[in-house]
This record gives sequence, C-alpha cells and structure tokens, in this order.
Amino acid sequence: MQATVISISNPLGGTGKTTIAFHLSHGLAMLGYKVLAVDIDPKASLTRAMGRREDLITYSVKDILTRSTTWWKSTLFISRNLYLIPATDELAGMDYHMLSKPFSYMKLKKKLLPAKSEHDFIILDTGPAYNLFSVNAWNFSDAVLMPFIPGPATGADIVMMLRDFQDFDVDVQVIFNQVARTRALAEQARRYVEKRHRKVEFSGTLIPRSSLIGESMVHHEPVFQRHPGSRPALALKELTALTATARTSRDAG
Ligand SMILES: Nc1ncnc2c1ncn2[C@@H]1O[C@H](COP(=O)(O)OP(=O)(O)OP(=O)(O)O)[C@@H](O)[C@H]1O
Ligand SMILES: [Mg+2]
Repeated sequence: MQATVISISNPLGGTGKTTIAFHLSHGLAMLGYKVLAVDIDPKASLTRAMGRREDLITYSVKDILTRSTTWWKSTLFISRNLYLIPATDELAGMDYHMLSKPFSYMKLKKKLLPAKSEHDFIILDTGPAYNLFSVNAWNFSDAVLMPFIPGPATGADIVMMLRDFQDFDVDVQVIFNQVARTRALAEQARRYVEKRHRKVEFSGTLIPRSSLIGESMVHHEPVFQRHPGSRPALALKELTALTATARTSRDAG
C-alpha cells in the first residue's frame, strides 16, 4: 500500500505545526510504521527539532525542488523507522525562483511520488504562509491537519483558512492545540465552523498547553518518550493512534 501523505499546515504562525509534525512522525515510527518526515519551511524548525544542524546538511528539500536531486539522496536517517528530508534557510525565496518553471506547483509531488511506495506515512511540516511551498505540499497530500489555538475569534479564522483549500483534493482536519482553560472556546469554534462548512472534520484529540512539549523537543525527544504518562504525552499518543487507525480503515475501505 502507498504512503498516506499528511501536511501539517496553517498560514497562521506558531499554532503548533512543527510540534505536531515532530510528534506524529516519531509516534508513528514507534508504532512500527515507516515514516518520511519532510521539512518544507525555510525556518527549518523540524530539522533542528530532529537534531540536525543546518550547516552540516549537504542535500535538502531545496535541492529536490530546484535541481535534479532525488528524494533518497537528501533523506537522512533519524531513528528506527524514521527518516527526514531536511530544510535549510537556503530554501527562503526559492518559491519565486520556481515560479518561472513549468509545473512549479507540482514539483514536490513529482519528485516524491516514488517515496510513497517505500513508506507508510509521509508527514510534511509547512511554514506559516500560503505560498508555493505549501501549495506543493497540499498538491501531494491526502490530508491536511490544521492546528489552531482556541480563542474568541477562532471559528471565523478557521472558516477563512478553509477557503484556501477549496481547490485542493485533500481532507482537512482541524486540531486544537495549547488548550488550557479554553475547552469551551474550542467547542464554540467547532460549532461555528460546522454550521458553515460541512466538509471539515475535527480531531477528537485536544492537545493541552504544557511546557513539557517544548522542553522535550529541545532534547530532540518526543514528549511520550521523555515524560511518559504526562497529559501532553497521552494526547499526542492518542493523535498518533487515531492517525494510524484512519490509515487502517482507508486500507480496509
Ligand atoms: N501544546 C503546547 N503547549 C505549550 N507550548 C506549545 C504547545 N504546542 C506548541 N508549543 C510551543 O509554541 C511554539 C510554537 O510551536 P510550533 O513551532 O510547533 O508552531 P508552528 O505552527 O510550527 O510555528 P511556525 O508557524 O512559526 O512554523 C513553540 O515554542 C512550541 O514549543
Ligand atoms: Mg513550524
């Protein structure tokens, strides 16, 4: 079976994309799935979280997008079952360079298509922008997971962001992150969106706000390994399990 491809995206900054990409990739690999994580953000936050120094990287996602470099040449081994195509800051501005080339919005799909038969999951961490990098990610994806931090205007924000996906053949799922005393706001946002937009799904997982998450990532470890049994560990494990189940049901269907 071909890999399930999931982009973690939201044009709003700092909502937890990299955090979720990091934990989902590690979590699925720990369950025994073969995972390829792809960093397609010039900030290279996922690359750094996975313990790779940008200055020691020879081939990155930039080479895949702008040269004839193959996916496997730029793939790094991270840990058992987990591989990474890293990003570096050299990716910045490359979207403008790519625009003049034919099918620039499909480049990632074309180059990574052969990797689909060699992995169970491909997880893409995009930057906080609606640009050619995110368009490349969405054109290659089966699903987009959109993290939001619940607040009073989140319902309206979600409806606005969903417009970005109208032209893409992807399933969109919203997930609430950094939930503290804001469960009611998350529920209010969900009801607001569901009245206006029938096609969107909401993840059953609410990721709590916890400093253990950032602390674990500084040590390049997922929180369920460094602080097993903690609330954020349980939530991110649940997200991983739900993602794995969705693949199994797709397989059965
Ligand atoms: N559940 C959480 N609890 C506490 N802190 C969190 C949580 N999720 C993310 N953070 C912190 O919030 C900050 C932003 O998270 P992250 O980098 O994952 O967001 P992002 O959406 O990838 O940001 P960008 O849009 O800049 O790429 C980080 O410092 C991260 O450690
Ligand atoms: Mg990020």
